[in-house]
Amino acid sequence: MIHSKLPHVGTTIFTTMSQLATQVGAINLSQGFPDFDGPDALREAVGRHVMAGHNQYAPMTGLPALREQVAAKVARLYGRQAKADTEITITPGATQAIFCAIQALVSPGDEVIVFDPCYDSYEPSVQLAGGRCVHLPLSLPDFAIDWQRLQDALTPRTRLIILNSPHNPSGALLERADLERLASLLRGREDIYLLSDEVYEHLVFDGREHASLLRHDELYARALVVSSFGKTYHVTGWKTGYVVAPPALTAELRKVHQYVSFTGVTPLQWALADYMAAYPQHVDELPDFYQAKRDLFCGLLAESRLRFTPTPSTYFQLADYSAIRPDLDDVAMSQWLTREHGVACIPVSVFYQTPPADLRLVRFCFAKREETLRQAAEKLCAV
Ligand SMILES: Cc1ncc(COP(=O)(O)O)c(C=O)c1O
Repeated sequence: MIHSKLPHVGTTIFTTMSQLATQVGAINLSQGFPDFDGPDALREAVGRHVMAGHNQYAPMTGLPALREQVAAKVARLYGRQAKADTEITITPGATQAIFCAIQALVSPGDEVIVFDPCYDSYEPSVQLAGGRCVHLPLSLPDFAIDWQRLQDALTPRTRLIILNSPHNPSGALLERADLERLASLLRGREDIYLLSDEVYEHLVFDGREHASLLRHDELYARALVVSSFGKTYHVTGWKTGYVVAPPALTAELRKVHQYVSFTGVTPLQWALADYMAAYPQHVDELPDFYQAKRDLFCGLLAESRLRFTPTPSTYFQLADYSAIRPDLDDVAMSQWLTREHGVACIPVSVFYQTPPADLRLVRFCFAKREETLRQAAEKLCAV
């Protein structure tokens, strides 16, 4: 008998739904990845660097040229002068960065506050560090943080708070006023750190602003801010991300990172550095690019019996299906839609420790080509 350190972890719903979609030939709007490719120049650069012999280990902290590009972007967009050498680390994906940050900061007996619904990698990472997740539900219908509840949940054991804005699965955004609230709440508790998962930082719509922790001096002093090149450049399979954090926190993160993977994939880092230097405007064009997809998808779904508010961010759209099958819980609904109607989605309850009893929400990923979205919407409108 193996003594499992993660006895409750099985195959994730993302794998399960993607497999089911393949098995029954459904359009896969479940897992969060594009069905189109990243920019040609970016992909060509990988081949070029592989052939140029950039195939050995990159420095542990990441390729200097790529760290410089991240520093330039962070300065331009958020006004933060983060030092490439001491504050920026390239990682093999945001998930690895989150794992390393948690191992670096959380000790046995520590409490980590997460807001449900939350991304599935947080809890197992905290468990492996010997910590305990304290799950606070976001308030419906806006998926907003209940600040009083957060204040009440702080204990002497609280070590880390994990934030995720733009938020998967809801698309909810923190605003500057929220950051002020958080800063005032944490004053006097220098022993609490923040892990800010901002992988959808550039997918913010309708002219709204991404209130990055990088903008906020007081919060940044205790924060690790994580992002993902995979999301930003439509190359999720490259599993390349980065962390921006003050020098002391970066040093702790790197202690773990160097033994988890040591470094990220070299030619990918070269290619990203080249592309960011040549096309800095890529990130400025992303909001319109994805907003057009959101508007197309939501416009087409207006004819359906799904109810929704167009999402303000990310490439996920939540939809309430209670006018169609109120008798089904969201897991059963997702399977039914996939099997019977040929569109795969993700049930929102899996992002909760304790889902609200009457939750009737599923998540669709609209990072898809126009024809995919049209075909999926046609099927959904026929339900
Ligand atoms: C909220 C959130 N954080 C982190 C990740 C992981 O990013 P990466 O693929 O770079 O590991 C995802 C991917 O779906 C995500 O949705």
